Amino acid sequence: MQVQIIEVGPRDGLQNEKRNIPLETKINFIRNLVKSGIQEIELSSFVSPKWVPQLSDADELINTLYNELKEKDIKFHALLPNRKGLDRALKCNLNRIALFTTTSDEFSKKNMNTTVDETIQEFKEIIPEFRKNVPQGWVRVYLSTSFECPYAGKIDPTKTLEISKRLFDLGIDDLVISDTLGVAVPDEVSRLLEIILTTMVSKQISCHFHDTYGMAIANVARAIKLGITRFDSSAGGLGGCPYAPGASGNLATEDLIYYIHRCGHKNPASLKQVATSSKEILDFLGKPIVCKAQSAYLNSCNTKAA
Ligand code: HMG
Ligand code: MG
Repeated sequence: MQVQIIEVGPRDGLQNEKRNIPLETKINFIRNLVKSGIQEIELSSFVSPKWVPQLSDADELINTLYNELKEKDIKFHALLPNRKGLDRALKCNLNRIALFTTTSDEFSKKNMNTTVDETIQEFKEIIPEFRKNVPQGWVRVYLSTSFECPYAGKIDPTKTLEISKRLFDLGIDDLVISDTLGVAVPDEVSRLLEIILTTMVSKQISCHFHDTYGMAIANVARAIKLGITRFDSSAGGLGGCPYAPGASGNLATEDLIYYIHRCGHKNPASLKQVATSSKEILDFLGKPIVCKAQSAYLNSCNTKAA
């Protein structure tokens, strides 16, 4: 079975980093991910530079990579919150956009300065405008705090379902069930997915698990059992939302690749090449390796070399 990896390291992985990362360093990171066989990458975000200064170079980054890599069959996305973000995406000729909302007004206000209803209202203008300009375009929407919110606490699955349905009614292509805080366990994942799959089909859904409690790969395993085949991950396990206190990095791409290949599922990404690409960016950031598959792979190389 083919399992799709959506690499979010260049966006979710870097958005919370305080140290200024030069544009060229980000571009090299993405070039290396492309060389490693990753087929789908969220490149950056068109959010307010006042809110996320680290990604204020999104336009230049995307223009550079689009020109350089347009011949390759890679799906590039970028995150955006509003009409201004859409205008920037259209100027860059981006044909895949990722919007984001949440189950909780408290989180929505902290992250976007709007309520959930206001966000969905804005999507009602953004999505048709995007489709008009890019008829073959593709729209994914993250549903943050699908399980728990740092401000409102645990979220009832029926509430997550209700907002999911409202999002599907907007004609989106991909709903991203997101464990922003990285707190969910497999039983919660199946409880939520089972009720969502009563009204939506598995190919319309991706999962985005942060790995705060080390449960992300177990959650992937459970979601695969329920027919989900698209998962977000971040090279080296970098990541976290600046407006979600307590959230840590995403599921590491290396863990996901190891799991997919070891289970006999298919994805062309190379563990070796992702592990070396993320080592480079971790070294630049002065961060230790936290991903077990990356560490095991790099240690096995050292053992062989010795
Ligand atoms: P606001 O301050 O209410 O907006 O922010 P505003 O309309 O008053 O604008 C303020 C300034 O920002 C203005 O500039 C606008 O022009 C500018 P000024 O006139 O003061 O010079 N502005 C923009 N500039 C560039 N691009 C734009 C844009 N929009 C406004 N698109 C806003 C509202 C939504 C913009 C802000 O709250 C925002 O950018 N929020 C994004 C925060 C963010 O990026 N969070 C992390 C991503 S979400 C996440 O990580 C979760 C996820 O991974 C899934 C999961 O794990 O759950 C996806
Ligand atoms: Mg995230």
